[in-house]
Amino acid sequence: AGNITFTMIKPDAVAENHIGGITQMIEEVGFRIVAMKKTKLSEERAGKFYEVHKERPFYGDLVKYMSSGPIVAMILEKDNAVEDFRKLIGATNPADAAEGTIRKKYAKSIEANAVHGSDSDENAKIEGDFFFAADERF
Ligand code: CMP
Repeated sequence: AGNITFTMIKPDAVAENHIGGITQMIEEVGFRIVAMKKTKLSEERAGKFYEVHKERPFYGDLVKYMSSGPIVAMILEKDNAVEDFRKLIGATNPADAAEGTIRKKYAKSIEANAVHGSDSDENAKIEGDFFFAADERF
């Protein structure tokens, strides 16, 4: 039981074979994987996913990067899922990420930062619905 958050393992971490390491860290702290798929975003789909950042200076590069290779999308369930997952991944900029966090271990830069995590319950629902139909969730 609990509520949900949404994550993507980003192209750099997938390309470097960190799917297993990251998924292990996620399960070890008590998240249950409700849905999971490896897929590749087109530039158009990546642009839509990150539409909230449209006006930011890094938007164009972010969209190119996120469509540059396959990603792994997941819906995760746990009590306090959104906040606890953000603690597990650490700060957006890996230079600021705490010891023991996913980004400390796997992120390469502020852009290629290994994983995405939803910032609110509302966005967790929107982002999960972006990737998964009802019959893909267990
Ligand atoms: P994410 O949590 O997926 O949400 C937005 C993404 O934009 C962020 O992780 C980074 O990968 C990327 N990004 C690139 N530059 C910046 C920046 N200066 N500030 C915040 N996010 C950035």
